[in-house]
Amino acid sequence: MKNLFTALAVCLFCATSCCNECKQNATCNDCCEGKNPVIETIMARRSIRAYTDQSVSRELLNQITECGINAPNGMNAQQWEVRIVDNKEWLDKTTAAYCESIKGTPAAKQTEDPAFKNMFRNAPAVIFVAHKPGHCTQVDCGLMAGNMMLAAQSLGLGSICMMGPLVWLKSDAGKPFTESLGFSEGYEPLLCVGIGYAAERPEARPRNKEVIKYVE
Ligand SMILES: Cc1cc2nc3c(=O)[nH]c(=O)nc-3n(C[C@H](O)[C@H](O)[C@H](O)COP(=O)(O)O)c2cc1C
Repeated sequence: MKNLFTALAVCLFCATSCCNECKQNATCNDCCEGKNPVIETIMARRSIRAYTDQSVSRELLNQITECGINAPNGMNAQQWEVRIVDNKEWLDKTTAAYCESIKGTPAAKQTEDPAFKNMFRNAPAVIFVAHKPGHCTQVDCGLMAGNMMLAAQSLGLGSICMMGPLVWLKSDAGKPFTESLGFSEGYEPLLCVGIGYAAERPEARPRNKEVIKYVE
């Protein structure tokens, strides 16, 4: 009974004083478990590989990329560059060249799917991230991608982080397309993030909780 009263008192306190400030208030986890918007966004995010044809506004893309560059990064050195492609012609041309160069290989199977729209898992907008290779720059870019995907999720958009397309983009056949992204000298494209309105709701892929252990 005492516990119930304590729980009710905590909830009442939170409903009146902390819920509006969930993002800041650590005690909120006591009363808003599962309702913390940040945690809900993290747990709801999934990699999306099917998108509607609806384009993403530049206002949203700007917000997402600004969240990206606000990621923590080693010594705040910001050894990264970002290029946003929401130009369907660029995505289609690049995809056509990709399809041509992988014809007859096992990789071509994916492109034969009737739902195939482009080589970026069908996303209508793709954010390319390059780094100036250094001690922590790959980690920095990964954190940036994480921020962007969570921002997208919170804005009602789907997303997917991809390194696969970069393999082809760095090949001889893909180089002209990479060059057209206009990264500065010394910067290497590392990953890209597809963004768009999700046309699927995949289940969470299983996670192995055994990897988490306390050191007593
Ligand atoms: C660094 C990185 C590279 C990835 N590259 C690809 C890729 O090239 N193609 C793809 O379909 N998914 C790619 N993924 C997405 C993963 O397959 C996906 O995150 C993983 O299966 C877990 O699923 P979830 O994101 O839905 O939780 C990549 C993810 C990360 C973090």
